[in-house]
Amino acid sequence: MPTPASGATPLRRGLPRVPGGEPWPPAGFAPAPVAAAPPAAPKLVSRSEAPAAPVVPTPAAADEAVAPAPASPAPAPAVAPTPAVKPPPAVAPAAVEKPGKPAAEPRLYGARTLGQWTKRMILLAVAAVAAAGILVLAARGVTTLPGVPEFLKKYPGAYSLPATAEPGFPWWTQWAHFLNVFLMALIIRSGYHVRTQQKPPAYWTPKRGGKKISINLWLHQALDIVWLANGLVFVVLLFASGRWVRIVPTSWEVFPNAASALLQYMTLDWPVETGWVNYNSLQQLMYFIVVFIAAPLAAVTGVRLSEFWPKNAKTLNRLYPIEAARAVHYPTMLFFVVFILIHVFLVFATGALRNLNHMFGGTDAVNWAGFWLFAAAIAVTAAGWYAARPLVLAPLARLFGQVSSR
Ligand code: HEM
Ligand code: HEM
Repeated sequence: MPTPASGATPLRRGLPRVPGGEPWPPAGFAPAPVAAAPPAAPKLVSRSEAPAAPVVPTPAAADEAVAPAPASPAPAPAVAPTPAVKPPPAVAPAAVEKPGKPAAEPRLYGARTLGQWTKRMILLAVAAVAAAGILVLAARGVTTLPGVPEFLKKYPGAYSLPATAEPGFPWWTQWAHFLNVFLMALIIRSGYHVRTQQKPPAYWTPKRGGKKISINLWLHQALDIVWLANGLVFVVLLFASGRWVRIVPTSWEVFPNAASALLQYMTLDWPVETGWVNYNSLQQLMYFIVVFIAAPLAAVTGVRLSEFWPKNAKTLNRLYPIEAARAVHYPTMLFFVVFILIHVFLVFATGALRNLNHMFGGTDAVNWAGFWLFAAAIAVTAAGWYAARPLVLAPLARLFGQVSSR
């Protein structure tokens, strides 16, 4: 509702709260909420990626506190443009009362998903650590059982690699791994947005025509194409260089050795780290699963869910229903998340500087060089994470199609 603007510093009074009542708020009332409102609102709006979303303005903003949450889908974006003209006093108390609670900002998707995402991450990490604590005691008990010490001696946690295996981490392994870290962060985030946002901030329609999809899904799929290309280059070079023997099991001994390594991890008496030359069998199995099972599974189920999939291939679609793909695609993401948490934890817990020098510096030395390269990689990933918002994405997406707000 257009209100006459005036730059008055004293509290401005707006519409009455009840028909025929006094202007709200009473003269001289509530300086605190008014002062607090503008910082609170823009912060939430920026995190919610609202700038590019020409959200329907809600003229009834002043009624938000009276008719709360679910009734209006966009209270904060409605607030955002307003403060310059007129701070809406009735909204302020609501925002101030529950600053951190999603319930107070009913449909701020970015803020909500970010909050939920963080919460889930923390919960997962805490659960993993707690479970590990209980398991340590059990594992220590197991190592004293008859036969177990002999088993650990026979299977120390790794078997010898074929003689052809060369030690070290060539530059292309480092680059593929870095690109994978960068892309994976944004793929997981955009996939999570696809799953959780009921009203995306923008939409994208292909140039050649076709179904309109959310900008999140556009980003997800665009990143997937780059990620697949990166993965293919990595796998080709892996086999061309003979380096594949490091992450593809070449002996059945991988299983008892992986069990042995797992037991040693669980007792906190960890297997000796020789990643420069040879991974332990548990590592090898996990890397194999990530590269050769989880990644293809994400791709095969993802393509089924996408518009690339032929809709009219009836027999094919009966054999491979879309529901099956959907049922597998999300848990695959969860697998990746759990893998990454444990992977990064172990990288840091088993000789961080040396490990980081392996994958980010390409040397087996123990110094800070690899760490700083790792820090740079994380900074670039964080910048990508920050940039992956509609304001930045829309011009990019426009190169490949049309972008609209609804
Ligand atoms: C901040 C994140 C990450 C860090 C610091 C990190 C660090 C490392 C390090 C240090 C190694 C070598 C281990 C050693 O020398 O013993 C490694 C190997 C590996 N990492 Fe990561 N990693 C990260 C994220 C990821 C992600 C997101 C994935 C996949 C989803 C991944 C998959 C792998 C694989 C498959 C290998 C074995 C590669 C090979 O030797 O060919 N990593 N990582
Ligand atoms: C080539 C690779 C991939 C393709 C083509 C792809 C494609 C898709 C498509 C089309 C959707 C939308 C599903 C729908 O509309 O219901 C989707 C959702 C999603 N994707 Fe991917 N994706 C790929 C890889 C990944 C990876 C590697 C991850 C995470 C590690 C991931 C995580 C997700 C998540 C969490 C969702 C939401 C799932 C849900 O709503 O249940 N995707 N993906």
